[in-house]
Formats: sequence, C-alpha cells, structure tokens
Amino acid sequence: MMSSKLNFVRNIAFLPQRMLSANATMQEPEAPKIVTKLPGPKSLDLIKELDAVQNSGAVQLFIDYEKSIGNYIVDVDGNTFLDIYSQIASVPLGYNHPAMIDVIKNPKNISTLVNRPALGVLPPRDFVQRLKSSLLVIAPQGLSEVQTMACGSCSVENALKAACFWYQQKKRGGESPSDEELESCLWNQSPGAPNLSVMSFSGGFHGRTFGALSCTHSKSIHKLDVPSFDWPIAPYPRYKYPLHEHKQENKAMDDRCIAVVEDLFEKYKKKDCPVAALIVEPIQGEGGDNHGSSYFFKEIRRVTRKNEAAFICDEVQTGCGATGRFWAHEHWNLQTPPDMVTFSKKMLSGGFFYKPEFRPDKPYRIFNTWLGDPAKMILLEAVIDVIFKQKLLDQIRDSGDYLLDNLIEIEKKYPQLVENARGKGTFAAIDFKTSELQSEGIKRLHKHGIHCGGSGNRTLRIRTTLTFSKKHVDVLIDRMNRAFYEM
Ligand SMILES: Cc1ncc(COP(=O)(O)O)c(C=O)c1O
Ligand SMILES: *[C@@H]1O[C@H](CO)[C@@H](O)[C@H](O)[C@H]1NC(C)=O
Ligand SMILES: *[C@@H]1O[C@H](CO)[C@@H](O)[C@H](O)[C@H]1NC(C)=O
Ligand SMILES: *[C@@H]1O[C@H](CO)[C@@H](O)[C@H](O)[C@H]1NC(C)=O
Ligand SMILES: *[C@@H]1O[C@H](CO)[C@@H](O)[C@H](O)[C@H]1NC(C)=O
Repeated sequence: MMSSKLNFVRNIAFLPQRMLSANATMQEPEAPKIVTKLPGPKSLDLIKELDAVQNSGAVQLFIDYEKSIGNYIVDVDGNTFLDIYSQIASVPLGYNHPAMIDVIKNPKNISTLVNRPALGVLPPRDFVQRLKSSLLVIAPQGLSEVQTMACGSCSVENALKAACFWYQQKKRGGESPSDEELESCLWNQSPGAPNLSVMSFSGGFHGRTFGALSCTHSKSIHKLDVPSFDWPIAPYPRYKYPLHEHKQENKAMDDRCIAVVEDLFEKYKKKDCPVAALIVEPIQGEGGDNHGSSYFFKEIRRVTRKNEAAFICDEVQTGCGATGRFWAHEHWNLQTPPDMVTFSKKMLSGGFFYKPEFRPDKPYRIFNTWLGDPAKMILLEAVIDVIFKQKLLDQIRDSGDYLLDNLIEIEKKYPQLVENARGKGTFAAIDFKTSELQSEGIKRLHKHGIHCGGSGNRTLRIRTTLTFSKKHVDVLIDRMNRAFYEM
C-alpha cells in the first residue's frame, strides 16, 4: 500500500540538489552563527509591539521561517541556530522540508488546504483514504481505531472521556442510562455525572485544559488558581544513573512506585470514586526527562488490567519516532497493548488511537467542530513516507547512540556542572547540578548558537527533528564544550 504514494518521495530522495529545498538556493548551514546580542534589536522591537496587545513574556525571539531550513532556525536579526528544541518537540522533518512543500504546491491538494470541514458530520470524499494512508499506517499494534483532534490537550481530554464512557458502559452491562442519570448529569450530580477518577503521576504533564490539567503536575504556573479534581497522584520513578551501576536501587524504586499505584486503586475504590483510567507518559517530557523502565510499565499494565481501568499512554511528546521506535511504548514489549495512545506535536494532527471497545456507543459523545484537520493529514502522509523511505528511525537510533556517548563524555569533562546523561533515540537529556546552572547553561548555549530549552527544574531537554544526524550531534557537542568551558 505504501509504494505508490512513495514515488514523489523517491524522486527527491536521490536528487541531492533538490533534496534540501524546493528553493534550490537554500541549503542547511554547516554551523550556527550568532551575529547580534540575544534577543537582537529586531526581535526586541517586535516583542515590544506584541506586548502592547498580549502577554509576550514567554517570547524569546522572532523567527524568519522562510530562511529556516532543516535543523537550523534563523531569527529576524539574522542569527542562525542549530535547533535542538524543534518548537517544543513538534517539528518532524525540519524546516521547509521539500516533501512537505511538494504537498502544498500540488494543485490536487488545494481543496484540502483551503476548505476545513466539520469532520464529524461532512467529511471529504477522500477522508477514509487519508486515514488509511496516514494515521492507520502507523497505528500502534492492537489499536485499530483512531479519532483525530486539534491539539495535544484536546486529545488527552477526549481520551479521558472515552475511558469514562467505557467504564460506565461496562457497569450498566449494556442497559441504557436511566432517566435519573440523564437528568442528574445536567446538574453535575451523580449518578449521571459519576464519581470516577483518573490516576496520573507526580511530575507528569498532559496539557492545560481542565480535565487534562488535573493530571498535570509538573509546574505550579500551569495549575495555579484553577479548580482541580481530587484524583489520585502516584509517584513516577526517579532513577539513578548510570543505570547499569544502580540496577537494584532502580528496581526497588519501581517496586515502591507500583505499590503506591496499587494502594491508590484501593483507596479510591473505598472512597467510592474508583479509578476509571490511568494516564502516563513513557518518558516525562516536561517534568524533567524522567524515564520509566520496561518492568515498571509492564507492572502498570498488569495493575490496570487487574483493576479494570483503562491504560492510556500519552505519547504526545514521545510519539512519532524520536525515541528510535515510532511509539515509545514499543520499547517495553508489553503483552497487552495500552488501551489508548494519545498523539499530537510531530504528528501534526492531534488525536488518539484506541481499542474497538473504547468506541463511544453514540455519536456526539466525542465530538467538536473540526475534529482535526485533513490539511495536516496530507502533510503527515508525506512525513510518514519520508520516515520510512529514508529509514529515519534507524538514523535516529544511530544518532541517538552517538549523542548519548558524547553526552556521557561531556558529563565526565564537566562533573561540577552536569550529570545523569540519558536518552532513547535523540529524545535525550542531561541534568545540571542546580536550577541556577540550568538557566545559565541554556543562556550560554543560545549564545553559542544552540536553540534549546529545559525540562523539570534542572534538566536540558534535547528534542530534535527526525533528520538529526551525527553531523548535527558533532555541532551540538562542539557548542556545548564552548558553553560549558566558560561556566
Ligand atoms: C505528554 C504531553 N501531553 C499533552 C501535551 C499537551 O499538548 P498541547 O500543548 O498540544 O495541548 C503535551 C505538551 O507538551 C505533552 O508533552
Ligand atoms: C530562495 O531563497 C533565497 C535565499 O533565501 C531567496 O533570496 C530567493 O528569493 C528564494 N527564491 C525563491 C524562488 O523562492
Ligand atoms: C498531495 O500532494 C502530494 C505531493 O505532491 C501528492 O503525492 C498527493 O497525491 C497529493 N494529494 C492528492 C489528494 O492529490
Ligand atoms: C459522589 O461523591 C459525592 C461527594 O463526594 C457524594 O455526595 C455522592 O453521594 C457520591 N455518589 C456516589 C454515587 O457515590
Ligand atoms: C526540583 O524540584 C523537585 C520536586 O519539586 C525538588 O525536590 C528538588 O529539590 C528541586 N531541585 C532543584 C535543583 O531545585
């Protein structure tokens, strides 16, 4: 099924001068180049203008996306950075990738690009084909159905709802909801609005909408002043590195966390607020690049099954290849797959995959106006073709191994600054010793032309595109050396 639509990718894959851009004069730079103070004068002017109409406190730089290419971004002041943050982990192939430009240029795609349908009621003629040649090609094993959504939070929010529907449907044993349920839910009262909970993990991040936010525990600024559900929060493992030197301690850590998960299931059952679903990230992406072992996740799968709760794997940040497998949960070799997998970011479209038993029994239960965007799906189709045709997952595993070896060298060279190098694929990180060193380190890396960001309160978060290769690792490590040498 893949081969016919791969033709256009094959054409560009073997034509080096076309490979870099639709604009033949554009080439990925060899190295970063910083020519002004950061932010430069043009960025500062634009920040000021923006600040007149909204809070621009998070804006770092204004970017010239026309000039940005591959793994490099260029700002409005002409500074060129190697980008290891990729728009908060959301750029699949790099900037201005030719395969994506071809999609936009193809006149056959115009109607998909200009008309945004209400997908739940009036999908386009080729919608089933679009699903089959994009999302369903990379559906996680055992999850044969998919629901598209707009963003990551929206995907999580709706997966949580689908879990609650499923839980209550099981409880009703196929009966229709009672009149009392139909009436009481309109008043936010049980039994129609039942006492159910969702278990999540300390340090986790699942988005900022109301339901998802009750599962988010990474930073106070995300949660302050917002009412939350009283839902159980379990500890997520925090391993000692290097892993091979701390096997027993880390296993004991897993066992302690799992024991708490089991206790919380019991506690919330006793509170008459049973856990309908457990949501977890394969690697905590915002909360500090905390990894969980295969053993930990196998145990989580076992405990969720025992308690008849849905197991939702939030792969918004880990999905789409960065860990060297298309889905990070594939690293665990689970015997029973997760019940739902949420995605967004590098997938371009949000949404979630699910087992057929999680399909809502009625229309309009999982619904909104757009329910995603076919324009993003035709781009995703091109992205998936490039990933497979150019064997980018193999490349990510290679550059990831090379990156980790180099990060370990950096750690040995600057033991007063950094520790705990870790990663899967290029989804990698290193901890600074303190929060102060984290902000200082990130600032200095920016000055040396590495666009990067943090996670947790002391971690450098590395989130590359899928075209990040060993030559990019060399540039990164060279710049890290320059930055850390100064500190
Ligand atoms: C694991 C995870 N889930 C959910 C989200 C929320 O996605 P969005 O910011 O698109 O709403 C994020 C965003 O960083 C995430 O990392
Ligand atoms: C190609 O890129 C160069 C450099 O950014 C730019 O000057 C030129 O106008 C572009 N050409 C086309 C046809 O887009
Ligand atoms: C959209 O553009 C791509 C790239 O040119 C092409 O392969 C694809 O067939 C187009 N889609 C449709 C529906 O024609
Ligand atoms: C749900 O919880 C509320 C408040 O904690 C309680 O008043 C209500 O009786 C509970 N309902 C059920 C069905 O357990
Ligand atoms: C980071 O936050 C964790 C959890 O809140 C806390 O225990 C730790 O001391 C903090 N570390 C630093 C370096 O501030």
